[in-house]
Amino acid sequence: MADDGLLFMCVGCCCGRQEHGGELAPARHLKSVVRKAFDASGLSGRVRLSFTECLGPCSESNVVFLYLHGRPLWLRRVNTPRLVVEILGYADRASRDPSCALPASFEAHAFTWTGGGVGPKPPVPDGALS
Ligand code: FES
Repeated sequence: MADDGLLFMCVGCCCGRQEHGGELAPARHLKSVVRKAFDASGLSGRVRLSFTECLGPCSESNVVFLYLHGRPLWLRRVNTPRLVVEILGYADRASRDPSCALPASFEAHAFTWTGGGVGPKPPVPDGALS
């Protein structure tokens, strides 16, 4: 079966670092938590998980890019295992129903990014996110 989408988890120069990583720092811990949650999600075969070098918007770390059914979704400050599980749950629902709504919990984490530069100014201060 062909994959419906891609999930890129940045483990580049800034993402996963102590000052940005919350509960998921350091980067090696981030990869382990995300891999285990992905394996448990049942998404394998529908969404491909890839750990990447820098995706570009370092100021937003930890950065996740979900590309599903041709639609991009950028998420920032993915600093907790709980949020990783929520992203995987959304990817599961959206892979089955592309019209499903984004969870309200993504509001403070979603951002737009078209590439180049250091990335957008964070719309929510670091301390305001859990
Ligand atoms: S290191 Fe993750 S976006 Fe640059």
